[in-house]
Parts: sequence; structure tokens; C-alpha cells
Amino acid sequence: MESPRINIKVIISLFCSYMLLSHYTTALRPALAIKECEFPAIFNFGDSNSDTGGLAASIYPSPPPYGETYFHIPAGRISDGRLIIDFLAKSLGHPFLSAYLDSLGANFSHGANFATGSSTIRLPNRILPAPGGYSPFTLTIQYSQFLQLKNRSQLIRHRGGIFASLMPKEEYFSKALYTFDIGQNDLGEGFFANLTIHQVNGSVPDIISSFSANIKKIYDVGGRSFWIHNTGPIGCLPYILANFPSQKDEAGCAKSHNEVAQHFNHKLKEATVQLRKDLPLAAITYVDVYSVKYSLYKEPKKYGFELPLVGCCGSGGKYNFNGRTLDCGRTVTVNGRQIFAGSCKRPYVKVNWDGIHYTDAAAKIVFDKISTGAFSDPPLPFKQACHRSLD
Ligand SMILES: *[C@@H]1O[C@H](CO)[C@@H](O)[C@H](O)[C@H]1NC(C)=O
Ligand SMILES: *[C@@H]1O[C@H](CO)[C@@H](O)[C@H](O)[C@H]1NC(C)=O
Ligand SMILES: *[C@@H]1O[C@H](CO)[C@@H](O)[C@H](O)[C@H]1NC(C)=O
Ligand SMILES: *[C@@H]1O[C@H](CO)[C@@H](O)[C@H](O)[C@H]1NC(C)=O
Repeated sequence: MESPRINIKVIISLFCSYMLLSHYTTALRPALAIKECEFPAIFNFGDSNSDTGGLAASIYPSPPPYGETYFHIPAGRISDGRLIIDFLAKSLGHPFLSAYLDSLGANFSHGANFATGSSTIRLPNRILPAPGGYSPFTLTIQYSQFLQLKNRSQLIRHRGGIFASLMPKEEYFSKALYTFDIGQNDLGEGFFANLTIHQVNGSVPDIISSFSANIKKIYDVGGRSFWIHNTGPIGCLPYILANFPSQKDEAGCAKSHNEVAQHFNHKLKEATVQLRKDLPLAAITYVDVYSVKYSLYKEPKKYGFELPLVGCCGSGGKYNFNGRTLDCGRTVTVNGRQIFAGSCKRPYVKVNWDGIHYTDAAAKIVFDKISTGAFSDPPLPFKQACHRSLD
């Protein structure tokens, strides 16, 4: 009986000295060091780049082999595994975000995800499940859903009972990080409607102004920290490369499609500068995801990737992509032959999963790079994104 008690004493005293020591080292950090933010919750808005189950719960669950790498079953993500948002949530010590639209087992105690695959910022011309349709849950609808959650979660908390603990605390809404990754489908919709590059490029200012309006509305109901991903190099995705004849850049990507994405990002960055002026209490971080994703195509070997312009799961062809929509996990007819579009052998050496979406392996690298702050404006690490600037 004696020795266990001694052990406990030893452990407690070791623990106390550790606490003192870590307090001491914290105090020794240079005065310049910026404190980490609390971020008790994340509220995410976006498209398939960050959808953790919204489209799957509401309209279209992805079949196997989606999810095969990490979850080993389809898990609401349009990927073989985790998305950037999953790595962001985990790095704050939170569970993966539940989709707002998921009524089965959702837990919103540390935030909610309003993103759905194929969402746009502006109202799309055609809605799913129509062929070539987009998600009905535009950014503006996602904002309305957020308002619903904000109000009704507090009613449920006050009522108590089994659902109360699944809701975020009231103070989380002002302390939360609001994350965004949306806009790719606004461009994609234009391209697939056969608009010219010039016409899609011309639609960018209107798309961005609708984006800014939604950020302001979230600020008006108390949101303060905003983490905004720019849009990726759409011209490097198999679904663009396989569908549109194009001049290629040095990485083999469609040059002018990427230029439209760059113009979108230029306007988005300008919008964040304006938003900082308009919203004096907001910390707004613009994150250059484009550059990180582009580096995976430009220097694939550096990251252990092979043939980055060819998707892992598909029905063959130069880019392993046929037709105009996703065929991963389905049997499709290509040149009169029935083909099951299955997974490749080594998804971990692939950048692209299904012709549109990134693999678990690619998302991990993008997270590793953007979380340092090296691709952010202001250049603060992810965990410091509640601060307005370096001072
Ligand atoms: C909801 O998530 C929180 C945070 O991970 C956890 O503590 C809690 O047990 C979860 N609730 C249920 C019912 O699973
Ligand atoms: C949320 O609650 C506020 C204040 O109680 C109310 O003014 C607002 O209309 C509510 N919004 C929604 C979407 O229910
Ligand atoms: C765009 O052009 C392609 C190829 O000519 C055609 O198959 C497709 O139906 C057109 N799409 C629209 C929306 O007009
Ligand atoms: C898009 O529009 C901007 C501003 O008018 C222009 O500077 C840019 O060259 C255009 N890009 C493309 C690919 O048309």
C-alpha cells in the first residue's frame, strides 16, 4: 500500500515542477511573441474543399472508394480522407466539424460546418440533382443556416437535456474562428456553361462583392476572427484539363483558367483590405492556398508525388477523367465500354483524388504549409489568427 502512494506524490511533485518550468519558459519568451488565440469553436463556410458531410447528408452521399485512406468508409468528404479543415480543427484540439445539415449524430459543441460540395457564392443557374447542377446551399444560404444555429443552439442549451451538451456555448460565437473556402465553383460554373475566359473573368467582381457582404453579416452578429482561403489553381484539375482545350503552363496546367483564378484571388485580397477598414474589430486573415497547391503541381517530387495532373480514382484517359461530372466509385460507359471507376494503387503519391478534389496526402501538406503563417496576410500562424496584425 505504501509504494503506490509515494509514486503518486512523486508524480504530483514532478507535475508541479513541470508546470512551474513551463510557466517560467513562457515568461522568458520575447515580448514580441504574440499570444495564441482561444478559438473554442470553428464555423466553416464553403464548398467540397471543406465539406465534412453536408452534401452527403442532404443530397448525394459519395460511394466507396471515397474515404478509403483515412476513414475506411465514405465519411461525408469528397476525398479519400481528410480535408484541410479537418487538420485545422484537430490542430486546435477539437473534434472534426459536424456538418450543419447532418441530423445523425452531429455534435456542434466546438463549431459547425455549413460547407457543401458544389456550393457557390452567387446563386447558381442550375441546382442539384439536375445534371450539371450546383448545391442549393450558396454562401448566403449558409449564412442563414448559421443564424439558425446561433439562435436555436442557445434555446436548446437553456432547455437542458440530452441535446444541450451538443451545442456551442453562447460566448463561443464571438471567440470562434470563421473559416471560408469558396469561389471555385463560381468560376467552374462559368467555364462549364461555355462562357469565354473573358466572360468568367468579368464575373469576378460581382462574385467577390457577394462574398464580402456575407463576411459583413457575420461580423454584424458578432463574428470577429476570419480565416479566408483564396481559390486554388482550377486550371490544374483534371476536370478542366480533360474538358477544355487549352494552352498549358510550365506545370502542364491550363494557363488561362489559372489566370482567372489568380484574378479572383487578386480581387479577394483587395476585398480583405477593404473589409479590415470597414470592420474595425475584425481580424481578417487572407490565406494563399493557391500558391501552396500550385507548388504540388510544379514540384511534385519534392513532396513525394507522381503525375500530379492525373487523378487517382477515375475511368481512364490522359487525366483519368471522362465526361463532365465525377465518376469515381461509379460504373460509366467510355467509348462504348462499361468501366468501373475505381481507386489507384497508391493514393498517397497522388495530389488529385477524383479529378476535382485533393487527396488526404495533399491536404496534409497544404495544412502544414498554411498553418505556419508563411502564406497568410497578415503573416501570423493559424493559432494567432485572432490578432489584427503583428503589433
Ligand atoms: C461532443 O463533443 C465534445 C467535444 O469533443 C465531447 O466532449 C462530448 O462528449 C460530445 N458529446 C457526445 C454526446 O458525444
Ligand atoms: C435570432 O434572435 C434574434 C434575437 O432574439 C432575433 O432578432 C432574430 O430574428 C433571430 N434570428 C433568427 C434567424 O431566428
Ligand atoms: C458546352 O460545350 C460542350 C462542347 O461543345 C457541349 O457538349 C455542352 O453541352 C455545352 N454546354 C452548355 C451548357 O451549353
Ligand atoms: C481579368 O480581368 C483583369 C481586370 O480587368 C485583367 O487585368 C486580367 O488580365 C483578366 N484576365 C484574364 C485571364 O482575362
